[in-house]
Amino acid sequence: MPMSDKRRTREIRRRLQLWAFDQLYRHAWFYDPLSRFVFGDEWHHWRQTVLPFVGPGRVLDLGCGTGALLPELRTRATAIGVDWSRSMLRVASRRARDGGLVRAAAANLPFRDATFTSVVSTFPAQFIVERSTLDEVTRVLAPGGRFIVVLGGEVTDWHGWRRPIGALARLFYGDRVDGTVPRGDVLAHPSLPGDWHTVETPRGRALLWVASRADSTTAEG
Ligand SMILES: C[S@@+](CC[C@H](N)C(=O)[O-])C[C@H]1O[C@@H](n2cnc3c(N)ncnc32)[C@H](O)[C@@H]1O
Repeated sequence: MPMSDKRRTREIRRRLQLWAFDQLYRHAWFYDPLSRFVFGDEWHHWRQTVLPFVGPGRVLDLGCGTGALLPELRTRATAIGVDWSRSMLRVASRRARDGGLVRAAAANLPFRDATFTSVVSTFPAQFIVERSTLDEVTRVLAPGGRFIVVLGGEVTDWHGWRRPIGALARLFYGDRVDGTVPRGDVLAHPSLPGDWHTVETPRGRALLWVASRADSTTAEG
């Protein structure tokens, strides 16, 4: 395919993805059934890969969506879910009946400095790579606190009737079958040094970024 055609295809795909995700964030009742239909249990297995990295204390689930991870986080720590979408929070409130849900933008978190021992974010939108978000995560994390992001998941075994769905997913996501921003140093922040981890799940794998809040005396600036 000539270069300009490739670029056009990429642009169409990008716009389609933005439109589709925006629709899902507005009509959140559709989010869990759709992700289950496409990815089966994998989506939840990918989310759960954050759990071994979460210590006791207070955990913030940033971009918590329908709140599917909150019950499990609450078995380990006091968990608060933040999301910008009212529709997502409405669905989440059925799971987190005792509250702990806050409507806020990731770049402007209504919490005091050093409130959390962990911040997790699973399948975040573009907000996660913005410097304003990473600065806020740094601010609300206590020194030594962890920042754990599931940036993407990949199905390596589309079996049985899910094979055609796998083909459609590849069409939708393009080369990036995991549907995420590219890896590299996209989540790098001077006060949040971290590493990439690939964690195997029953029919695929998840890509995680695990960082720790540097002590202010050791941070580079
Ligand atoms: C793909 S969903 C992931 C939801 C959930 N964490 C999961 O694992 O399924 C991304 C979420 O980020 C939320 N979001 C998008 N932009 C945001 C922002 N600037 N601040 C906070 N949440 C945001 C969306 O409303 C949506 O619920």
